[in-house]
Amino acid sequence: MNITETPAWKALAEHAGEMKPRHLRELFASDPGRFSRFSLDVEGMLFDYSKQRIAPKTLDLLVALADAARLGTQIDALFSGAPVNRSEHRAALHMALRHLDDSPFPSSDSGFEDVMPQVRALRERMGELVRAIRDGALRGASGEPIRAVVNLGVGGSGLGPKMATQALEHLAHPGLRVFHVSNFDDADLWPVLDKLDPRSTLFIVTSKTFTTQETLTNARSARDWLLSALGAEAAMEQFVAVTGNAEAAQAFGIRPDRVYPFWEWVGGRFSLWSAVGLPIAISIGMEHFENFLAGGAAMDRHFRAAPFSANLPVLMALIGIWNTNFLGASTHLLNPYCQPLCWLPGYLQQLEMESNGKTLGDDADPVGADTAPVLWGGIGSDTQHAYFQLLHQGGRLIPCDFIACAESEAALPGHHEQLLANCLAQAEALAFGSAVLGEEEDPRKRCPGNQPSSVFLLPRLGPFQLGLLIAAYEHKVFTQGAIWGINPFDQWGVELGKKLARRLLPAIAGTEMPTGSDTSTAGLIAWLRARIHER
Ligand code: F6P
Repeated sequence: MNITETPAWKALAEHAGEMKPRHLRELFASDPGRFSRFSLDVEGMLFDYSKQRIAPKTLDLLVALADAARLGTQIDALFSGAPVNRSEHRAALHMALRHLDDSPFPSSDSGFEDVMPQVRALRERMGELVRAIRDGALRGASGEPIRAVVNLGVGGSGLGPKMATQALEHLAHPGLRVFHVSNFDDADLWPVLDKLDPRSTLFIVTSKTFTTQETLTNARSARDWLLSALGAEAAMEQFVAVTGNAEAAQAFGIRPDRVYPFWEWVGGRFSLWSAVGLPIAISIGMEHFENFLAGGAAMDRHFRAAPFSANLPVLMALIGIWNTNFLGASTHLLNPYCQPLCWLPGYLQQLEMESNGKTLGDDADPVGADTAPVLWGGIGSDTQHAYFQLLHQGGRLIPCDFIACAESEAALPGHHEQLLANCLAQAEALAFGSAVLGEEEDPRKRCPGNQPSSVFLLPRLGPFQLGLLIAAYEHKVFTQGAIWGINPFDQWGVELGKKLARRLLPAIAGTEMPTGSDTSTAGLIAWLRARIHER
């Protein structure tokens, strides 16, 4: 079934014709109950979507679209452990990683294997390592306690730990430093090594495949660095691996008891709840890490139980589809007014765009509609002084998510109220435009408004709230994939560039002449080779 051919899709297309000319000013003026109608509180997180360009009928039609896509059945399949990642014949059971009670997962009537015994055993092992590092019991080869941990991982093996460690930095162990290195560029790893003492540094090599070139290049350089300071045998005492390829990790030299599993049913970009989250747990401690898991689990329960019309991730997904497919938006802006969430836009770029940036459905037929919008973003209020001008007067439709917390984790008086006032003011200005202040005379100052946004408000940014928020975006992505009919759990598109890089490497390194390259690529290589040669 192609979703764009369903009566539900066609009804939405027709309804969009009615809604496009309507202004948010008019929608609010005609419905005093709009905020309570279009807002939702889940586990203390408020989601206000009243500033989206929707009417009650829009939501009814969107819920009918979800029904037409058999979303309920697809959610059941996800939680049952069925191989929903059909191109790779794998389940997507990241919810098991945050399942905290004693029951099996997936449930015993699913017919699929209970993964909880392995998950619980992993949590035990993680807890032991985390406590040993935090208490100073884990020592480097020369007897120094470990005081710095460097995660070497990229994409799903790097972005999640980096984002969450930063978000929860207020809970960080005061005597430990946690670093994240992902890039080939030695300007990423080198300054980190330069700051550290090899005797008290532990490296975590995080790679599901243990073949990712960025991570292996960095791991080899880290090994050389330790080796030259501590000697060959000692160096490998200070390595941990998180991987689905234990053999390769051991061949690299990592002790078998320091290898933590990365199961094939955990997608990279859904993995920060697993041992991939070790840097987070080392930084904030196991108890806080489990609160983070609890937040994710709370969102799982809500996602499974709530009717679509009051289901936060489903609403996020449906609104995204409305904006992209029916109102014509091609980007989505993520704008947390919360400095600790500075890596959230980057994290969600992978989650949303690597998952749903596809034009072919699960059956390899074209979806026939736009899928994931370009997700971009930054941190408010900085962004107000960068690109908000374009949102207000640039004439493009750019839906936006604002995220803010009632309380700050920092302690300087007078800052947080200003931050919150600016966040809400931007959402207001985008929705209602300059008419809200009656400043319409000078056309150069006129802001038309009608720019849709949602606002997420959290009481504070604790581990539970972060888990809640991240799991909401995960389920949004799943829901959109389910409706568009695409598999959000594979990423074939990223392979081509990797293959071409392997082909170009000998030419760049100067050992071979480029073969089979276009004239532009060949010209660029020639220019580089001349300069590299000159050095
Ligand atoms: O290149 C994309 C990707 O495959 C992501 O999906 C993944 O998260 C990342 O690379 C890292 O992969 P690995 O964990 O195998 O090193």
